[in-house]
Amino acid sequence: MSDIQRTLVLVKPDGVSRGLSGEVLRRIEAKGYTLVAVELRTADDALLQQHYAEHEGKPFFQPLVDFMRSGPVLAVVAEGHRVIEGFRSLAGGTEPTTAAPGTIRGDLGRDWGLAVTQNLVHGSDSEESAAREIALWFPALAA
Ligand code: TYD
Ligand code: MG
Repeated sequence: MSDIQRTLVLVKPDGVSRGLSGEVLRRIEAKGYTLVAVELRTADDALLQQHYAEHEGKPFFQPLVDFMRSGPVLAVVAEGHRVIEGFRSLAGGTEPTTAAPGTIRGDLGRDWGLAVTQNLVHGSDSEESAAREIALWFPALAA
């Protein structure tokens, strides 16, 4: 069985506005993963509500959706051996304050004391999530 996977990465509006899109792509490529698709776009509510459906009803859900449509995001599909877990490792923990140094969130992010955690990047968390998220953001790539 092959362990070659695809994952959906988003450089969130804070990352794009801070000029960190290239740095995130650089880290993905430097790790040895392949870029399959890259697109800068501003997401609408419907897409974001589906993307973050698992968090519906939580207090940070609406602030999260509002933040994610506050500016363009860079949507990326990356491919490689165990890339789903691998990109989560590159991204670091959810909270920038405690994310390990060496990771994207740990090196480049900090907490801002806002209703929503602005942590620069998203990465799919399982094969099921990756398939669902890639189909949402890049329907043409869906299997
Ligand atoms: P989650 O899926 O738990 O984190 P991750 O992005 O590391 O997979 O949450 C999705 C996003 O929601 C997270 O990146 C930032 C935001 N969020 C908050 O604003 N507050 C919170 O308490 C949590 C858990 C997440
Ligand atoms: Mg998540």
